[in-house]
Amino acid sequence: MAKILVTGGAGYIGSHTCVELLNAGHEVIVFDNLSNSSEEALRRVQKLTNKSLVFVQGDIRNQSELDLVFQDHKIDAVIHFAGLKAVGESQQIPLTYFDHNITGSIQLIKAMEKASVFTLVFSSSATVYGEHSSSPYKEDFPLSMPNNNYGYTKLVIEQMLEKAAQADVRWSIALLRYFNPVGAHKSGEIGEDPQGTPNNLMPYVTQVAVGRREKLSIFGHDYPTKDGTCERDFIHVVDLAKAHVFAVINRLKQTGCRAWNIGTGMPISVLQIKETFEKVNGVEIPTIFVERRAGDLAAFYADATRAEQELGWKPQYSLEDMLADSWNWQKQNPNGYN
Ligand code: NAD
Ligand code: UFG
Repeated sequence: MAKILVTGGAGYIGSHTCVELLNAGHEVIVFDNLSNSSEEALRRVQKLTNKSLVFVQGDIRNQSELDLVFQDHKIDAVIHFAGLKAVGESQQIPLTYFDHNITGSIQLIKAMEKASVFTLVFSSSATVYGEHSSSPYKEDFPLSMPNNNYGYTKLVIEQMLEKAAQADVRWSIALLRYFNPVGAHKSGEIGEDPQGTPNNLMPYVTQVAVGRREKLSIFGHDYPTKDGTCERDFIHVVDLAKAHVFAVINRLKQTGCRAWNIGTGMPISVLQIKETFEKVNGVEIPTIFVERRAGDLAAFYADATRAEQELGWKPQYSLEDMLADSWNWQKQNPNGYN
């Protein structure tokens, strides 16, 4: 069993990953500045698992705060979630995104080197493939410049980590390229709690369902897809969380830098999300079709076979589970953690 530092562990994916790590018997230290999360999520993680974790409030851009964590705890591996993730906001305040995501990651890598901790799992995104290939995306496809500053930070960090691993063979790094995480823990105790107007489809749908928003706007219905709306690869957040546990185990045994797609490999359309949500949960989602959203690709889904072959990880949850669990969380927590 390992002692794992989880940066951004109070957030959506981080909190679900803490549950899976604790359930698998690992020790967890969360490092988070709570800029987009609540300590309540961590209280619930401990309640759900009946295990305790250590929480340190701090910022990954602060080298001395990080150094202290590595001095106080004998860390075996790091899972790095901390960062900013809103695509639209990244276009308004690029330097803030570069600072949190890129500078923050450099500070973390430096603190790890100082403490001789060389095992890292990084939250990357399928956005690093850019727009020049087509689905299903494989890990060895060429990467290209994403069309937004958030995606750019993920590409830069991936490349930095590759180069660090080339220069020093002690590094063992997993780049997990997530497709579209949705869903929540079965208990409904933890889930996605975006601040302000949601950028992503799923929280928008659940907020319409719970009455916080009037209707869903579907961006574009003239795409070259089966029903004219965009297709994405939705992955249950608990499956995604489990992929991190598999990745840590793999990286503690091997060195080098390796990328894995984390998705189901199944294209699901936006309209299919709305209709299946209504069917599974018995709730109507008033919807209008509007113009396409700038920057959206028609279809974006993974070839997820490498993760199965090399990590032994395979998604377990169906689309129906994803939609039922998202709704269960939102229904029980109409205002998120507030
Ligand atoms: P989230 O915002 O819920 O979690 C991120 C956490 O990091 C939050 O708890 C926030 O408080 C913390 N944080 C932000 N800046 C920090 C800093 N400077 N120092 C310390 N803590 C800081 O987001 P999430 O959806 O859980 O995403 C986790 C990671 O996965 C992010 O790196 C994100 O870019 C990546 N990712 C997310 C998605 C998605 O759709 N949710 C898709 C691909 C990749
Ligand atoms: N959509 C709507 N209405 C909404 C919100 C979204 O129709 O209110 C549609 C979008 O147009 C898109 C699909 O739902 O076709 C999914 O959109 P999301 O914003 O939920 O997700 P994206 O696929 O655009 O974004 C995801 C991740 C980002 C990542 C990006 C890379 O959330 O982190 O993929 O393409 F950068």
